[in-house]
Parts: sequence; C-alpha cells; structure tokens
Amino acid sequence: MSTPLAPVLSAFWDAERSWTLDTYLAHGGYEGLRVALSQDPATVVQTVKDSGLRGRGGAGFPTGMKWGFLPAPDGGPRYLVVNADESEPGTCKDIPLMMASPQLLVEGVAITSYAIGCNHAFIYVRGEVLHVYRRLLRAVEEAYAAGYLGKDVQGSGFDLDVTVHAGAGAYICGEETALLDSLEGLRGQPRLKPPFPAVAGLYARPTVVNNVESVASVPQIVARGAEWFTSMGTERSAGHGLFSLSGHVTRPGQYEAPLGITLRELLDMAGGVRGGRRLKFWTPGGSSTPIFTEEHLDTPLDYESVAAAGSMLGTRALQIFDETTSVVRAVTRWTEFYAHESCGKCTPCREGTYWLKQVLRRIEAGQGTQGDIDTLLDTCDNILGRAFCALGDGATSCITSAVKYFREEFEAGMHTPASELFPPEASALFEYTPTQRERSGALAGSGAGGH
Ligand SMILES: Cc1cc2nc3c(=O)[nH]c(=O)nc-3n(C[C@H](O)[C@H](O)[C@H](O)COP(=O)(O)O)c2cc1C
Ligand code: SF4
Repeated sequence: MSTPLAPVLSAFWDAERSWTLDTYLAHGGYEGLRVALSQDPATVVQTVKDSGLRGRGGAGFPTGMKWGFLPAPDGGPRYLVVNADESEPGTCKDIPLMMASPQLLVEGVAITSYAIGCNHAFIYVRGEVLHVYRRLLRAVEEAYAAGYLGKDVQGSGFDLDVTVHAGAGAYICGEETALLDSLEGLRGQPRLKPPFPAVAGLYARPTVVNNVESVASVPQIVARGAEWFTSMGTERSAGHGLFSLSGHVTRPGQYEAPLGITLRELLDMAGGVRGGRRLKFWTPGGSSTPIFTEEHLDTPLDYESVAAAGSMLGTRALQIFDETTSVVRAVTRWTEFYAHESCGKCTPCREGTYWLKQVLRRIEAGQGTQGDIDTLLDTCDNILGRAFCALGDGATSCITSAVKYFREEFEAGMHTPASELFPPEASALFEYTPTQRERSGALAGSGAGGH
C-alpha cells in the first residue's frame, strides 16, 4: 500500500487568501497558543520533546532537546531566532510556507517563545525574497493587532515582541552562528563553537535558533498532542514534513507526507519523471547531500534510512534529474555556487572550493587531464572534516557521490565536452539560453586550463 500524503502545514494553502489572519482563524489557527498558555512552559517543552520533532533545517537535531539546553533563567533576555534564510540549491519549502501560511509561523514563534521564556523573537529572512519579507511584516502586524503578540498576549501576562529582519542574501547566513553575527550587524561568518547559541547566542545571551518548518510544526503538536505526531513517520523520524520535488518531474511542488515515504511513492503522485523519461540521479536533501540514483527509489525518506544508504535527509529537497542530464555539468554548477558562497574564513573551503571549480570546469569542457579525478577526490578529502563549518563539507558531497556512481562521465571529460554528450537544451526545463562561457566556445577563458 502506498503512503498517503499528510497535509498539516500545507492543509489550507489553496484556501482563499490563505495568508490572512481571518483565514487562519477559520481553520483553527491559534488553538495551539491557547493550549500552550493554559500550561506552564516546562509542559510545552516536554510535549515537543515527547513528539520527537527533529529540526527541519537540515541536521535533524531534536527540537525539544535543543530548547531544554538553555540555562536556567537569570533575569536577563533570552532569544528565539527563526532561520528563514533558505538559500540552498533545491531547498524551497520555507518560502512557500511563509507565503501561503505566515500565521502558522507566527503562532509557532509565540508558543516557542513562551516555552523557552523569550520576550523578543527574531525572524531572519533571506534578503532576496522581498515578497516574503513583506508578507511576514503584514502577518506580524495582524497578530499584534489581534493580541497574539505584544504586551500581555491573550491576557496571559506573557509579553512578546517579534522583529522580522531581512538579510542581504548570502547562503552562509543560514549557518546559525553566521546568522547571529549578521543579525548583530557584523559580517556573516560562522562563530567558533562552543559556546553554542543555547549558552551564548544573540548578543551573547541564551538563544534558540530553529528552522521555519520546525517552528511552524509546533502549533499542531501542542494543539493535538505528541501522540498524534508520533503516529506519523517512523520511530526515530516522527511526524510529517514538506518534500519539495523539483527538476525533471511532471508536477513539481510541495508534497507534505509522513517521514519514511519513498521517492517512488512521491514520483507516482507527481506524475513521474517528465515525458516518461528515466530517472538518472537525485538529491534527497538539497545540493549538499550526496546524490542518489534509481537504485534508491525505495529508500524510506527518514533520517536513519537515508543515512544508511549513504546520504542525508537534509531539507527533503528532492531535485530530480533525468537521463538527458550531464552529471558533470550539474556538479560543476553546484560547485560554482559553493565557491561563490564560501565566506573565506577558513583555508580548506576558501581555496578548496576554488580549485574544485577550476578542475570541474576543465572536465566539463572536455579538457580534463589525467589525474583530474584524483585531484578532485583528494581536494574533497582535504576539505571534509577540516573546514570550519558545514558549508565546506556540503560542497564535497555532490562531487564524491557523483564520481562514485558516474565515474565514466568524469573520465569522458578527458576528451569530450559534456555539452556534446548531453546537449544542455535537451535537459533544460525552460527555453535554453547558453551561458556567456558556453557562447565563447571552450571554457578556457574561465581559467579552466591551468592548475
Ligand atoms: C551553509 C549553511 C547554510 C544553512 N542554511 C540554513 C537555512 O537556510 N535554514 C535553516 O533553517 N538552516 C540552515 N542551516 C542549518 C542551521 O545552521 C541550523 O542547523 C538550523 O537553523 C537549526 O534549526 P533546526 O534545528 O530547527 O533544524 C544551514 C547550515 C549551513 C552550514
Ligand atoms: S567552511 Fe567555508 S563557509 Fe564555512 S567558515 Fe570555512 S570558508 Fe567559511
């Protein structure tokens, strides 16, 4: 039997003006906050612990346990910071969630803040998504006017202010400590840990940093109880989550389902690979998770099963690539992204991603030299586990996994350009426009020719 969808976060995304407070209230909105305010904060934390909710921002750290790491109150401020920076290639769940149902996040912020004893929460939104920033500002304004935020929330005596902050558009500002530096007005670069944010986070005060989807999952858990949540998913990967299908799929979009669903089941619902073509490779959790192939179609998409099969569940960003795609080209584009987004703080990532990009461009152009594949793997080996933050590790995933499954395509790059083996226009989803480098013929002008 196939796993059915489980629309919770996305339950009324197609309702008329789904983003307004009125629509939210008409669908049972703020019931979770009402329940939370009738309990003491420790009970709310315990409910979230019991639910087994794991952080939806990529690493899958248990949310309730993270809240429990905050030291005992000392009379000073404690903060909740919502990570809404969503910038990883393929990851596209938080932005639709905030566009379609921003009150769900605001309610989650109110409950989480109450649970952890925070009176000032921040939502850090990726800078480029101005439309989301505006929608959140409006949602927060509506929530203040209705007494769900501000002084004495719903007559409970609990005060909460929420600041929506737009970043300037840097992938590294999604890394939680770089985000905190950026929020403080500094250049967004990761901090040395420990101390962890729970002890010394924003303005060196105890801070919880949680992903949008994690926080938005809280209201229904509190309203319906931990057992309702654990009735979905698997034993160690409980609940529901957004699975974002993109790329060569007939009906791309957000499919909310229990964790543990398989790509085969999701593809069945999404009309399969476009044009009846064959699946070549896919990412289970965004561009920083090792790629999978057809052989992984039945791998349950939960944290444990995906890890056992050699990748990571990450952000459940399922990017689908069919047989027309050059794996070398895809990996080169991702690597260009990482080289561009490397913050430069540590040498393995700053230098390593630069060199990976050069070697890959050469292979893509059919100008690879003997030893290039070893150079790639060697460079990855020198980054993995040696970089200051997880961006460096993530940059190596697509390369090492692609060489593992498609080594012959990298070897072909010693003599034949990827564009001859896999014409880009065949895999383009929209009208294909050659890049500047492609127009100028070989990629020699990019520096692809030299070590
Ligand atoms: C380079 C990089 C970018 C990241 N980007 C995001 C992001 O956009 N959103 C997010 O929630 N987490 C992102 N993370 C993970 C955060 O550091 C952090 O683990 C997460 O916000 C914790 O929330 P959670 O426990 O609710 O998952 C990123 C991590 C790295 C290394
Ligand atoms: S791994 Fe990359 S992004 Fe992270 S600190 Fe080092 S240079 Fe910056």
